[in-house]
Amino acid sequence: MKQHYNSDNIMINLDLKGCSGFVSDQEFDNYTTKALEALSILDSGRGAGSEFLGWNRLPSEITPDMIEEYLKVVDRWIEMDINLVIVIGIGGSYLGAKATIEALSHSFHQMSPTRGIKIVFAGQNLSEEYIAELMDVVSINNVACVVISKSGTTTEPAVAFRLIKSYIEQSYGIKGARKRIVAITDKERGALRLLSNQEGYKTFVIEDNVGGRFSVLTAVGLLPIALAGFDISEMVRGAADMQRICSEHTKDNPALLYAAMRNALYDSGKKIELLVGFSPKLSYVCEWWKQLFGESEGKEGKGIFPASVNFTTDLHSMGQYIQDGERTLFETFIDVRTIRRRVEISHDKQNLDGLNYLAGKNIEFCNKMAQKGTMFAHNDGGVPTMEISIEMIDEYSLGQLFYFFEKACGISAYMLGVNPFDQPGVEDYKKNMFALLGKPGYEKQGEELRKRL
Ligand code: PA5
Repeated sequence: MKQHYNSDNIMINLDLKGCSGFVSDQEFDNYTTKALEALSILDSGRGAGSEFLGWNRLPSEITPDMIEEYLKVVDRWIEMDINLVIVIGIGGSYLGAKATIEALSHSFHQMSPTRGIKIVFAGQNLSEEYIAELMDVVSINNVACVVISKSGTTTEPAVAFRLIKSYIEQSYGIKGARKRIVAITDKERGALRLLSNQEGYKTFVIEDNVGGRFSVLTAVGLLPIALAGFDISEMVRGAADMQRICSEHTKDNPALLYAAMRNALYDSGKKIELLVGFSPKLSYVCEWWKQLFGESEGKEGKGIFPASVNFTTDLHSMGQYIQDGERTLFETFIDVRTIRRRVEISHDKQNLDGLNYLAGKNIEFCNKMAQKGTMFAHNDGGVPTMEISIEMIDEYSLGQLFYFFEKACGISAYMLGVNPFDQPGVEDYKKNMFALLGKPGYEKQGEELRKRL
């Protein structure tokens, strides 16, 4: 079975050994042939939705000047002693930044007294308590806001922005607000563009050819990540290195191999993919991945259902099902080869807990053995497993991982026969919500729906 092992040990590796009992070499080879066709359709722009392929070459097109523009905002806000930035957005306009910031931050960063800019997110839900509590925090800090919406009309971020804008204007004046609000949106369409032009906000453009869930390497992801103090040049470098590898039209391309195996497993009845992390830092990377694959592939009655678990935590809640429940699952493990911190298990004279056999070992050794043991157990229990290994949780590796998944997603969706770049199904709830909220133009639908309440 084809594996992708990179001789350069800082790159992503893909290990497919855990699938060999489920998909034969011959079958897999057939799927890699189909994946090559899908890759060629993708790269040549011959597939459905090809007007949204801007992300495909994006990493190599990001210039130092573009990075500089983001860093200027960071410098300006540091000079103004801003210590809290509210990043407003939902879906693809939020998850990439959230995933990166959660992965790279200290696990207890919200409690740490460190100086610099803290990031909080808003507009990703309609919870009144969340917003009320956010306003508690906002009112005791020196704040600025990045509002992100490609369409510029999405309800959740629009509601949050209305409140934050009004707070900022009242606290710092209209002129002050101009210095404290940055908008990331379409170059000409949408309410947010109109409002930004009128108010004179600094803006960054989301190009027409980059869809929300593929936008982490645009201002949408890069500006909040830079504001949180992380090295966006490194992230872009990682993505650009992965772009080179994933552009190869050969059966060694790791994105192609991953897409091929997903489809082979799906066709054999494995309808659910669990992305598995062994660090809480990766929880939101999993959320980002779920949106990417779920929104890109789940259509026309087809698509692998993307779910995620965080082990070893979830082994104590979901482990039983995965080991022993309905055999429709496969798992993709994210392996992290190197960690940044070391904590050794100490020796105890009494050894009442019986743990002295681990004395002198690092916690990560236990985590790794749990990871390997789990993989073997699930495999033996009828769950195919893949392993994607990254060097460490840093900007460079995350850049690689994001691009790798984007490319694999495009190939995989084309193999499945769907347009990866639209999301027609998302509109239905919006129409109902507008109708129930009483939005002008939805009166008839509102009447019908209210009968069902
Ligand atoms: O991937 C997508 O296109 C969506 O998840 C959008 O990012 C999300 O709905 C937010 O849309 P917008 O940026 O237009 O507010």
